Amino acid sequence: MTFDFDAVLDRRGSMSLKYDSAVKRGKPADILPLWVADMDFSTADCVKAALTRAVQFGALGYSEPDESFHAALRAWFARRHDYGVETEWLVQTPGVVSALYTAVKALTEPGDAVLIQSPVYYPFTAAILDTGRRPVTSELVLSEGYYQIDFDDLTAKIRREKVKLFILCSPHNPVGRVWRRAELERLAAICLRHGVVVVADEIHQDFILAERRHTMFAKLGRETENITVTCTSPSKTFNLAGLQLSNVFIANKALRKAFRAEVTLGGYSQPSLPGLVACRAAYTEEGQAWLEALLAYLRGNMALIRDWAAAWPEIRFIEPEGTYLAWFDCRGLGYTADALTETIERKAGLWLDDGRIFGPGGEGFQRLNTACPRSVLTEALERWRSAF
Ligand SMILES: Cc1ncc(COP(=O)(O)O)c(C=O)c1O
Repeated sequence: MTFDFDAVLDRRGSMSLKYDSAVKRGKPADILPLWVADMDFSTADCVKAALTRAVQFGALGYSEPDESFHAALRAWFARRHDYGVETEWLVQTPGVVSALYTAVKALTEPGDAVLIQSPVYYPFTAAILDTGRRPVTSELVLSEGYYQIDFDDLTAKIRREKVKLFILCSPHNPVGRVWRRAELERLAAICLRHGVVVVADEIHQDFILAERRHTMFAKLGRETENITVTCTSPSKTFNLAGLQLSNVFIANKALRKAFRAEVTLGGYSQPSLPGLVACRAAYTEEGQAWLEALLAYLRGNMALIRDWAAAWPEIRFIEPEGTYLAWFDCRGLGYTADALTETIERKAGLWLDDGRIFGPGGEGFQRLNTACPRSVLTEALERWRSAF
């Protein structure tokens, strides 16, 4: 099978958040958008064919996952992550961000402390603040271009702030770490010791670029599984965010009951039919073949960035082990954070994510979404370099 990731899709005028919202968000109309984690590739053929069949059939009423859907989930998680998911563990939400809000509301009380590791995907903080909980931040430590967990800081904060819930980002957006098993085991031991429930946001779990496997947090053992809410979705892997389906696995009955009750309180009942159809089609061997080809392409994009960054010593490319997001330490340029973003947007005509939105540790950094055709990435990098 061959796949054409070089094809450039003109997404303008397709109600795309990435392409059609620049002016509304105060950016120049012709800016090249490499910000939100949304890929510029047409999704896998098997997904498109399944959606086409469903639309042609024409019955688009209320839907519910059936055994064929559960079988696809089981096969995917067994094959890719060596993890056995059980049918009754599944609770579906219209997205992972929705699942984060649901988990915070269901599993903590207003005023409770919720731990995150910054810099981190900004809706983590929003889910905590918007629901009247208290964010407790343990900053990741950047040393020699590599991010590590400060376990002493994290443990001290869990104790001092009486943390109830920990939202883990694994793999980590934006720093690109694929946590090693030993790191996750240490986190699990700390959480078990201090009665902390873990929401593991594993939406990027299929994007492993380094020679390494992703370890699902709940897979570490029965005890850990029992304190974990695992958030997954085919939406990043196959670029299906617009179909609004995520699969949350909760082995612990009491946690699942509380989470499900909160989903119900939000008035959400049936998952999206296109979401179900697309997920079932994606989680197949055909979907897997597309994904493997995509990963090879993304590794090529990372190599391009590596070479580009090597010739520009003031910029440090934090090469991701996972995700398709590139994180750049731009502090060496000597710009203020405002001037940095202003120059990238106005002079280079590029829309990246300013590191400050990811919280403490993000100032002076920029995040670039590399999931685009190589010609687009090349143009972006050239524009960026020449603007400075
Ligand atoms: C870590 C993480 N969680 C969740 C999401 C969004 O998930 P959803 O679109 O399913 O709400 C993203 C998207 O970038 C993400 O990076």
